[in-house]
Amino acid sequence: MKIDVTLTKHPKEKPADESKLSFGKLFTDHMFIMDYDEGEGWHSPRIVPYGPIEIEPSAMCLHYGQEVFEGLKAYHTADGRKLLFRPDRNMARMNISNERLCIPKIDEKFGVEAIKKLVEVDKDWIPTAKGTSLYIRPFIFAVDPMIGVHPAKHLKFIIILSPVGAYYPKGIDPVDIYVETNYVRTVRGGMGFAKTAGNYAASLKAQDEAEKKDFTQVLWLDGVERKYIEEVGTMNVFFIINGKAVTPSLDGATLAGITRMSSMELLRKWGYDVEERRISIDEVAEAAAAGHLDEAFGTGTAAVISPIGKLCWHDKDIVINGGKIGPITQRLYDTLTGIQSGELEDDMGWTVEI
Ligand code: COI
Repeated sequence: MKIDVTLTKHPKEKPADESKLSFGKLFTDHMFIMDYDEGEGWHSPRIVPYGPIEIEPSAMCLHYGQEVFEGLKAYHTADGRKLLFRPDRNMARMNISNERLCIPKIDEKFGVEAIKKLVEVDKDWIPTAKGTSLYIRPFIFAVDPMIGVHPAKHLKFIIILSPVGAYYPKGIDPVDIYVETNYVRTVRGGMGFAKTAGNYAASLKAQDEAEKKDFTQVLWLDGVERKYIEEVGTMNVFFIINGKAVTPSLDGATLAGITRMSSMELLRKWGYDVEERRISIDEVAEAAAAGHLDEAFGTGTAAVISPIGKLCWHDKDIVINGGKIGPITQRLYDTLTGIQSGELEDDMGWTVEI
């Protein structure tokens, strides 16, 4: 399919001071749109000026949340190249989410082409300051003007771009996490593995309460036994126990993070044992009490690698590595961001040049 391009006549001011960029508040000059209509399939891919879109108040996504999204980043290298990080994985995961949400699949290769073309059009928006990048948000939602509960026959696939700095205002400084024992995010058999709006809506109340207590995010426990660790707010989670890396297995309730997968691949390459298995909060607390919990960190596209300095469980604090970033967390952060920004050689074959 050919992507039509209509350029804006009113380009916006770019950020004057990139070091002040926060996360996801500013958008570039253009966006990609493609429509789905039953009988016709996905059609009319186009790049148009970024701006409001018109949908009916009865559009199904507004009522029943039939929506999926992705998140990935483009980076500007010091020698002037523009890189994407594993975009094929995002498009593959989008189709896994699509399947769960009864959304017609997209052509993954075409999805990557659409991302490349949009980033190329807005390439001057990729920030160059250290720790910054261009966040790419592809999403699909149902637009049928109908409030009966059925899978949609008409949808839109949009991609928008946002120049960003660190997701957490604290940057790479360790974050404090509240272990949530009251609310649950999802259950096995639910939609936890899919990247869909409803999972994030389910997290807002707990997130809000945790922020009021000065925590950055919550750690989710499983919805049945309220015991096994699943993930943290917008990240997957890893614990280094007695020198081994442990991360919750993907049991249908946890998102298959691309930074999670990349971290496991790097850790294994460096010779660490990596266990993907059920891990309970009791095990983490016991390891900490015995002095065996060396480090903990979250992984995510937006959050990158985020050290965890403290977990609060039933009003008791579990302080990790004296509240400081640990050596494995730091090495992962340096290596991943080094590969992504082109400062380190990409011997994993993860980056894609635009
Ligand atoms: C990402 O890390 O890309 C995400 O999608 C998390 C987001 C909810 C900020």
